[in-house]
Amino acid sequence: MKHLLTLADLSKDELYELLDLADALKKEVKKGIYTKYLRNKALGMIFTKSSTRTRVSFEVGMQQLGGKALYLNANDMQLGRGEPIKDTARVLSRYVDGIMIRTYKQSDLEELAEYGSIPIINGLTDYVHPCQVLADLQTIREYKGSLEGLKLCYIGAGNNMANSYINGGILAGMQVALACPKEYLPDTQICAKAATTGRFTLTQDPLAAAKDADVVVTDVWASMGEEGEAEKRRQIFEGVYQINDAVMAQAKKDAMVLHCLPAHREEEITAKVFEEHANEIFDEAENRLHAQKAVLVKLLGD
Ligand code: CP
Ligand code: NVA
Repeated sequence: MKHLLTLADLSKDELYELLDLADALKKEVKKGIYTKYLRNKALGMIFTKSSTRTRVSFEVGMQQLGGKALYLNANDMQLGRGEPIKDTARVLSRYVDGIMIRTYKQSDLEELAEYGSIPIINGLTDYVHPCQVLADLQTIREYKGSLEGLKLCYIGAGNNMANSYINGGILAGMQVALACPKEYLPDTQICAKAATTGRFTLTQDPLAAAKDADVVVTDVWASMGEEGEAEKRRQIFEGVYQINDAVMAQAKKDAMVLHCLPAHREEEITAKVFEEHANEIFDEAENRLHAQKAVLVKLLGD
């Protein structure tokens, strides 16, 4: 593992190694142990979009590991004035030991990885959000004991989260069922690859997708950068693509609910279901810290 651009680049062993390391690091912290695995290492964090969880968890994660994180708002960088990514990559490679970037195009990450000489971590693109799904898998395993054979159901837009749930869920050995409107389907190639496992289904019917699910997940109807489409999307998603009591009645009795956050109550999830599963959802948010520390140790550690 050299970078974390998408979970699709990982082997199953690498995925489980990261999850085991995330659990171990979490246990250490709970005992008050902060081993300085990344003493004197620096992480550049480039953001071209907003963030609460990703920014704070990476920054605190680096601090706990004995290193330093630099918040770099792309608009404040020369990048925002047109300096090429390939030059930014080569410059930052001389200063920092790794880059985490949140941006629009996956190809921008790939360019950073190609021209830089340091590990690149995907902090969300329009295509995938691998760090979030790592944290989700860690959370599901904590609650359910294992991942293999469990059914994960995603209801909503075929966006970066949908793509990453397919990548991560299938890699972990889960059954993955998605319900997305035909106008907003997940990535065709990701779906085609998942379909070859016989553990993937894609429907427009949330109730069918949720049948006997162990975990039910969703995400916002309009992602960052899609705000202009919010009204158009609302008309397609409203009343159908939502985690509510009817959906939960289809899932297993002990089904978990996760949400990457931020959540929009009464849109993709009802306030009632959200609050009934708030412990799981905020454990999931906490696990961003532990899961990403595992990624950082693996990629930036000696
Ligand atoms: N889930 C997530 O990535 O949250 P932020 O946008 O707050 O980083
Ligand atoms: N799909 C959402 C996820 C936010 C964490 C977005 O890209 O805005």
